[in-house]
Amino acid sequence: MKITHHCFCILMCVPILLSWSGIALGQGSMLARTPPMGWNSWNHFACEVSDAVVRAQADAIVASGMKSVGYVYILIDDCWQGTRDAAGYIRPNAKFPDMKALADYVHSKALKIGIYSSPGPKTCEGYTGSYGHEEQDAQTYAAWGMDYLKYDLCSYDGMGDQVAAYKKMGDALKKTGRPMVYALCQYGMQKGWQWGASVGGNLWRTDDDIRDDYYVMSELGFGQNGLEQFAGPGHWNDPDMLEVGNGGMTTDEYRTHMSLWCILAAPLITGNNLANMDAEAREILTNPEVIAIDQDLLGVQGHRIKQEGPLEVWMKPLKEGSTAVGLFNRGWGAMPVTVDFRDVGLGNSAVVRDLWAKKDLGPFQEKYTATVPQHGVVMLQLKRGT
Ligand code: GLA
Repeated sequence: MKITHHCFCILMCVPILLSWSGIALGQGSMLARTPPMGWNSWNHFACEVSDAVVRAQADAIVASGMKSVGYVYILIDDCWQGTRDAAGYIRPNAKFPDMKALADYVHSKALKIGIYSSPGPKTCEGYTGSYGHEEQDAQTYAAWGMDYLKYDLCSYDGMGDQVAAYKKMGDALKKTGRPMVYALCQYGMQKGWQWGASVGGNLWRTDDDIRDDYYVMSELGFGQNGLEQFAGPGHWNDPDMLEVGNGGMTTDEYRTHMSLWCILAAPLITGNNLANMDAEAREILTNPEVIAIDQDLLGVQGHRIKQEGPLEVWMKPLKEGSTAVGLFNRGWGAMPVTVDFRDVGLGNSAVVRDLWAKKDLGPFQEKYTATVPQHGVVMLQLKRGT
């Protein structure tokens, strides 16, 4: 096709206008357009991570069907670092004999790979951090073929201006010319959601570390209400990684975890051992209709619309006018929970689908009530009725 003068002008002007618009686009407008999905080594393997573990998880993310529903990032967390060479470049430790070869292996499966560091001299586990070597480290990650960096505050806390430290690495990543998702991990300190995107961040932790425990998970997840205005395409609030499949919660509790993270448009980074995942964890992590709520292109983070004691109703607006609704029971014993269609802007009637049961429930007038199990959820998609 011949590019006319008119076309040429549009092609040239759109990026210029976007960069003038002042909209914070993270590391690049095409990066993290929807919340990143993948696997991270920390929750299950912690410092037992190695080249062999990462290869096995990359194999398993494909074999288990996780990749085909959208999980593509394989993320190495803390404990991979060795010492610096005489010129100051970081080398991996003995558990990672060849980082470039590992990245090539992950890429050969049409997956992406990520790595971890800290703005301070040490990481949270005491390994070598990036302090004073930010540009060198960013160049090294780019040369290895990394697609994602998690940058974890730890030993920098109290050392200086946190925002400047995160900007320094954000600028260093940009300077490499390689698109890398930039994940800020500062546990919500200094309200990272207010400045995360301005330093190039594509996601930022909003709170402390998750644990494989219903009460810790639910404090984090239900505590996100009010942060929705800070999330959007390219820049997301991160209530921390998923614990589904690690064994510390019931099936209903893990469904609550997954449903809530999807309503929150949270990054879906699993933290279990994908190589020996049971059918139940797989079913929760791979439900395509639930994942579609998280990945909806409107990119709006959901919020709470009603709370009565332990019962909560949350909604997330979706593109093309439908709405996801979570009916949650944080209490003991099964209890009825009701969504009033007017509360989600749907007027008098709605057509209801149950996303875990994978069932159309039909049209209802004014409201819909479901019995929700203890610590459980009923997750719905509502469309305007006729
Ligand atoms: C912090 C982070 C965790 C993990 C560990 C690794 O606690 O919040 O997600 O990265 O450090 O040491």
